[in-house]
Amino acid sequence: MKILITGGAGFIGSAVVRYLIKSTHCEVLNVDKLTYAGNLDSLADVSSSEKYRFEQIDICDKPSLSNIIVDYSPDLIMHLAAESHVDKSIDSPDVFIEANIVGTFNILEVSRTYWGSLKHSKKDNFRLHHISTDEVFGDLATTDDLFTEETAYEPSSPYSASKASSDHLVRAWYRTYNLPTIITNCSNNYGPYHFPEKLIPHIILNALKGRPLPVYGDGSQVRDWLYVEDHAKALYEVITRGHVGETYNIGGNNEKKNIEVVESICNLLDELAPSKPGNIKSYNELITFVEDRPGHDQRYAIDTTKIKNELGWEPDVNFEEGLRETVKWYLDNKAWWERVLSGDYALDRLGLDD
Ligand SMILES: NC(=O)c1ccc[n+]([C@@H]2O[C@H](COP(=O)([O-])OP(=O)(O)OC[C@H]3O[C@@H](n4cnc5c(N)ncnc54)[C@H](O)[C@@H]3O)[C@@H](O)[C@H]2O)c1
Repeated sequence: MKILITGGAGFIGSAVVRYLIKSTHCEVLNVDKLTYAGNLDSLADVSSSEKYRFEQIDICDKPSLSNIIVDYSPDLIMHLAAESHVDKSIDSPDVFIEANIVGTFNILEVSRTYWGSLKHSKKDNFRLHHISTDEVFGDLATTDDLFTEETAYEPSSPYSASKASSDHLVRAWYRTYNLPTIITNCSNNYGPYHFPEKLIPHIILNALKGRPLPVYGDGSQVRDWLYVEDHAKALYEVITRGHVGETYNIGGNNEKKNIEVVESICNLLDELAPSKPGNIKSYNELITFVEDRPGHDQRYAIDTTKIKNELGWEPDVNFEEGLRETVKWYLDNKAWWERVLSGDYALDRLGLDD
């Protein structure tokens, strides 16, 4: 089976590519623009596989996208390419509108033309899987409510609004053109190869360097954390066995306050990296509360009943195990993150882009 993945050099996309190449018989074409968040180092384990191929393409470049889909002739498409950082979307929303809305529109249109040209079982079995976020649902405040597949969309940030727009486009292409689509909305992911701008790697790396550990507001915001490798398995189950036209919520059943996450990282580092920078006795001393982000959602939490009942998927890794693995991974893979932080990687990429 041939799967075309967009955004396969990103955090979740690279976990999906590694899973498909190592644990399934699928062939993979990774289509990625290699923005600052795309990192081919994350695919070093699988890049020499005969089952793997990479093309540097911007999903906003419709002719190139169309050519590569026709050339590769995939059985399935998984669409993960997106701008994904909320703070960046507040500072510069334009690129989020382009990549997340126009980019998804292009994926839908080239997929529609391609699917229309297919015959027999290849046409019947084709699926376009759009990977989205629980942030489209907005804020749950501090109640016991959970996001279900029926929850109304109420996005708060330019990022979540752009993802909500892309979800609406995908549903419209299913309803209007019968394009066989499936959507998944997932909670916060964490794990190895996470770009250091995101909370968990940011805290780990700042702590190791003895820098302040910034926590927005009072740190009481609640997120449901899913280990990225569990997400990759869930996406494979959905695209191979999920029902066309459906939406599946994916979550880790691991609700934690941001401050709890930061304190857990500090406690793990106290144990696993005991020679601390500066004169601190515990990494917890570096925690610094900073002004809250505008429009910051208080609580996200996912009801995973549907994917569990229909597809039998449940997360394997609980938060305590996953966080320990993640902290260990950053301690053991200094070369990966030092290259990201040093800017050398960005310079390499500039060379490629030119
Ligand atoms: N990270 C999370 O916790 C989370 C949770 C739920 C859903 N999601 C969704 O999953 C998807 C992947 O998230 P991620 O955390 O891996 O993101 P990421 O920012 O780590 O990676 C995004 C990838 O997309 C590529 N990309 C961006 N714009 C592109 C364009 N115009 N053309 C081609 N490639 C482009 C980047 O180069 C990068 O490799 C996104 O759609 C995101 O909305 C993420």
